[in-house]
Amino acid sequence: MSEGNEILTELDGIQARGLEALATVQDEAALQAWKTAHLGRSAAVMQVFSRLGQVEKELRGQVGQRANQVKQVLEAALAEKDSLVRAAALERRLAAEKLDVTLPGRKPDYGRLHPSTLALDEICRNLGEMGFQIYRSPEVESEEYNFELLNIPAHHPARDMWDTFHTTQPGVILRTHTSPGQIRAMRENAPKPIRMILPGMVYRYEQTDASHESQFNQVELIAVGPGITFGDLKGTIEDLAHRMFGPDVHIRLRPSYFPFTEPSAEIDMECFICGGKGCAVCKGGGWLEIGGCGMIHPVVLQNGGYDPTQFSGFAAGLGPERIAMLKYHIEDIRLFWGNDVRFLEQF
Ligand code: PHE
Repeated sequence: MSEGNEILTELDGIQARGLEALATVQDEAALQAWKTAHLGRSAAVMQVFSRLGQVEKELRGQVGQRANQVKQVLEAALAEKDSLVRAAALERRLAAEKLDVTLPGRKPDYGRLHPSTLALDEICRNLGEMGFQIYRSPEVESEEYNFELLNIPAHHPARDMWDTFHTTQPGVILRTHTSPGQIRAMRENAPKPIRMILPGMVYRYEQTDASHESQFNQVELIAVGPGITFGDLKGTIEDLAHRMFGPDVHIRLRPSYFPFTEPSAEIDMECFICGGKGCAVCKGGGWLEIGGCGMIHPVVLQNGGYDPTQFSGFAAGLGPERIAMLKYHIEDIRLFWGNDVRFLEQF
């Protein structure tokens, strides 16, 4: 048999074996291996081309043509198999990554306002309607503003009422009350009459218990003008209490002492749980303490830039947490900053 005829027979076998091998291919990797073996540089059909020179002249064209044909048949089969393998791979991925759209969605956690914020907002909203403007005053204060300018000199025993947190900078502390803001608000506005509220966090170095925390909010009220009286103070407090707790609640001002007001009083609200008869919430007394107040001391007015012979004013400090405790029947003030979502979720 001539070399040419031999190669022609061989080519039939090459094509048959190639197609047969391709039939068993299932995935991308096997397909790559098949391609190298059957259409790569050292594949049988490729070697035929380099042997063409040895084929007798008469058959050379035919052998070349047939070799090309085999190569094309194998290439076409490869292309077809390639798309089959890709489709199968996609099918497998889709099946594996199937989305179950019937699963219930995950509920996001909804944020809500903190009970202190709710109480603060309500106090500020009502006082806003009564003509009070909000004034922001810093939580990190100087001893001068927190004490001296409020008529509490160093070593005065009244300082014991407000032990606080000190910073590494001498004379710089965390404010123990919102009252230092009185001086700031007055100094910024004197000699214009003012009516302002100063809400914000205050700090005290305290043994904490159910009714004492080392941080809490206060809302300071201050009104300065010609001829402001204790009656204005009482009327303002009463009006606020009625707006917040209803028209039937009673207010009582009980004489007290603050170095920066004269006269001074504690603000008691009639217990709205028992109507003043005495119960567990008011500990039998019928009244609940919600803040302190008084007529601004002449020395403090002067420190704020007002002439105490021309101007008078009142000030009060309310505890929004105290008010929230009454409103929502919260029994322990430490819950406010305890960060327990079971507590916070209830508002
Ligand atoms: N600053 C006082 C306190 O924190 C409360 C107060 C404010 C009293 C204004 C009188 C006038 O105890």
